[in-house]
Amino acid sequence: MSNIVLSSQQDLHHAWRWLDQSLATGRKDWQSYSFSRAGIAAQQHHLASQPALQAALTRLTEEEVEDIDANPAKLAQFFAPYLPCIEQAPTLLAVLLVPDEAAVDSPPVMPLPFWLTNGIQGRKLEQIRHFIAALPTPARSSLEWCAGKGHLGRLLAFHNAQQNVVTSVVSAELQAELCTAGMALAKRHDVNQRFVQQDVLADDAHRLLQGVQQGLALHACGGLHQRLITLAAQQGTAELHIAPCCYHLHNAACYQPMSAMVRAESLMQLTRADLKLAVQGQVTGGQRVGRLRRQEVTWRLAWQLWHEQSNQTTEYQPLPALPKQLLSADFSAFCVWAEQLKPTPRLSDSPTAQVEMLEQAEQLYLEIKRADLLRHAYRRMLELWLVLDRALYLTEQGYEAHISSFCHYQLTPRNILISAHLKT
Ligand SMILES: C[S@@+](CC[C@H](N)C(=O)[O-])C[C@H]1O[C@@H](n2cnc3c(N)ncnc32)[C@H](O)[C@@H]1O
Repeated sequence: MSNIVLSSQQDLHHAWRWLDQSLATGRKDWQSYSFSRAGIAAQQHHLASQPALQAALTRLTEEEVEDIDANPAKLAQFFAPYLPCIEQAPTLLAVLLVPDEAAVDSPPVMPLPFWLTNGIQGRKLEQIRHFIAALPTPARSSLEWCAGKGHLGRLLAFHNAQQNVVTSVVSAELQAELCTAGMALAKRHDVNQRFVQQDVLADDAHRLLQGVQQGLALHACGGLHQRLITLAAQQGTAELHIAPCCYHLHNAACYQPMSAMVRAESLMQLTRADLKLAVQGQVTGGQRVGRLRRQEVTWRLAWQLWHEQSNQTTEYQPLPALPKQLLSADFSAFCVWAEQLKPTPRLSDSPTAQVEMLEQAEQLYLEIKRADLLRHAYRRMLELWLVLDRALYLTEQGYEAHISSFCHYQLTPRNILISAHLKT
């Protein structure tokens, strides 16, 4: 069951104002990017004014950093003596800011036959079950936004039919092959689910919402779930249930707040890099995933150090997401890939320079991780700030909006649910 935490408009305002103030006050702790020598030096300079915090961070081993980083309760405990905002969080926000490690979600009571859930990866299946369990009574018509293969829609249609409620579910998705695969599953399992292949950012996307009672979006990225929110408000859709993710994936260079109140009152302007911080929470993915993540960070850092050295610059050169196959290749292959994207003197041609850069990267790795840990102390606050911007926009559009967590953080760090009902 979802656990509603913020419900009245007053709660939402109060929580957002506190977050805005706390994030603005602590901006030097989190709005600094340390993935370069210059970044590390700037952060050390800033931390010199907080020697107790600097000393505590310097004492941490790599294993301790990893452990604290993967656990919001330990993160809050570690930073509480040094960052007053962590101790002073409004009680209303506490459960959302620091999910209780001891609280393990029991699986929602929702009998689903195994054949219906075949092919849905374990964590995703549990997320969907919790998401459906957090919905109010079945809606006459539901629209699943950015549906992929429509697993959520299929399980919802089945669940509603089990309760003898006549409902229809439409799943909207951009990729034709996902629609085709989803339609085949709906047909095989004889559920009342239809697919519409549609770019939800296109001008005619509002048509999707005509006659729809309930809009649903599970982990639709930034601009995509924002589009559902604005279109639903225009069309007067009665209910929305949205679990947002990837707040940084939208077209604007700087974040444009949705709510008029946030636009008028915020003390901050957020860049795309800032928004990425909100989704940097990792839940442990096992030893292999951890090893590959460490390898990737070291390679990126070695490449950045090479860029700094060979171009006589301190500028940070970000690289895009790594193609998966490169993770099982070697550093030399990584360099070839990076050089195609960002021309620089060729590191791939010099095995000696590669060894040297990797050694330097290894030495800096722990300092980077410690600096990131401090930034991560603010990541949930930033995520809630963004979620509240969406909820406040909905209240300005005539909705009652609630914020809750629909599943435990360990099942997905993107466990926040915005539920909104149009006031009659
Ligand atoms: C992160 S997945 C989420 C899928 C599903 N809701 C889930 O939780 O597993 C995002 C989906 O959005 C779809 N998508 C991306 N851009 C889109 C667009 N402009 N219009 C419609 N769907 C889009 C992608 O193809 C992908 O299937």
